[in-house]
Amino acid sequence: MKRRAFVFGGLSTLASFQHSRDVKADGHTGRVLILGATGRIGRFIAETIRSDGYTVRATTRNVDRAKQRIPGDYEWVQADVRDPRTLVEPLRDVDYVVSSIRSSQWVGGYNPEFVDYHGMQNLVDAAKAAGVKHFVLISTATSGPQVDQSKNPAKNYVRYFKTKGEEVVRTSGLSHTIIAPGRVPEEPGGEIPFILLDRKDYYVSIIKAGDVALAALDALTNPAARGKAFGLRNEPSVALGHWRTQYAEMPDR
Ligand SMILES: NC(=O)c1ccc[n+]([C@@H]2O[C@H](COP(=O)([O-])OP(=O)(O)OC[C@H]3O[C@@H](n4cnc5c(N)ncnc54)[C@H](OP(=O)(O)O)[C@@H]3O)[C@@H](O)[C@H]2O)c1
Repeated sequence: MKRRAFVFGGLSTLASFQHSRDVKADGHTGRVLILGATGRIGRFIAETIRSDGYTVRATTRNVDRAKQRIPGDYEWVQADVRDPRTLVEPLRDVDYVVSSIRSSQWVGGYNPEFVDYHGMQNLVDAAKAAGVKHFVLISTATSGPQVDQSKNPAKNYVRYFKTKGEEVVRTSGLSHTIIAPGRVPEEPGGEIPFILLDRKDYYVSIIKAGDVALAALDALTNPAARGKAFGLRNEPSVALGHWRTQYAEMPDR
């Protein structure tokens, strides 16, 4: 059962990333593998990271469909996290990994257990074998170890299996950052300030997709973001860039 149709919009909003104000244009180099680059958040992440100077290798289960829908100078590769064999080539010569995937079905072959949990295990194993420098996981506010989700059957235990996927990353030995947004409007970032949140302090929060992307970009190379898990919320009352000072307050949960 397909959960919903993918609606791709906002090409012009992606382009406006170039004009956002909360950007440190460090002009990095290196190759970033982005899983979920066709997704609602992942496409903002892909464009933000590419605009910073990295080479972006973007995965999809259907390269032809992705190229038609998503403009951008990306190395498109086919990968399905359920099948470890499809992850070997995509990870060749990759410096960093960002995972912004989620199960595309509640029941069936692409359910949360197979994608968000076992798929994450496959991806982490492959990333370790490839020797990547840092792994960024985009998870969700409604999952995480701060709440026991093991008895929550909603949407075929998606919150539980996403929490298990996080645990795989957290215990992997990989340098990692876990970003757990709440509600995510598909809008560019960098204009309205935002803050980082300890996950025990919130359940639902609103953060623009472009701001999730800024945090993902920063996490690739900022030592302060290593071993941290946090949510984010747009917060007009603080200064732009305030979030960059908050990592020390964030735990790894
Ligand atoms: N969007 C939100 O409002 C929101 C809010 C809070 C948290 N989140 C979290 O943010 C992350 C991204 O969410 P999203 O809404 O951007 O996702 P989405 O729009 O539903 O896109 C899902 C992505 O996952 C990929 N994918 C699905 N199954 C896969 C598989 N077996 N192997 C490899 N890739 C697979 C899809 O790629 P192809 O279809 O191209 O293969 C697609 O790019 C998730 O962890 C989600 O829980 C999202």
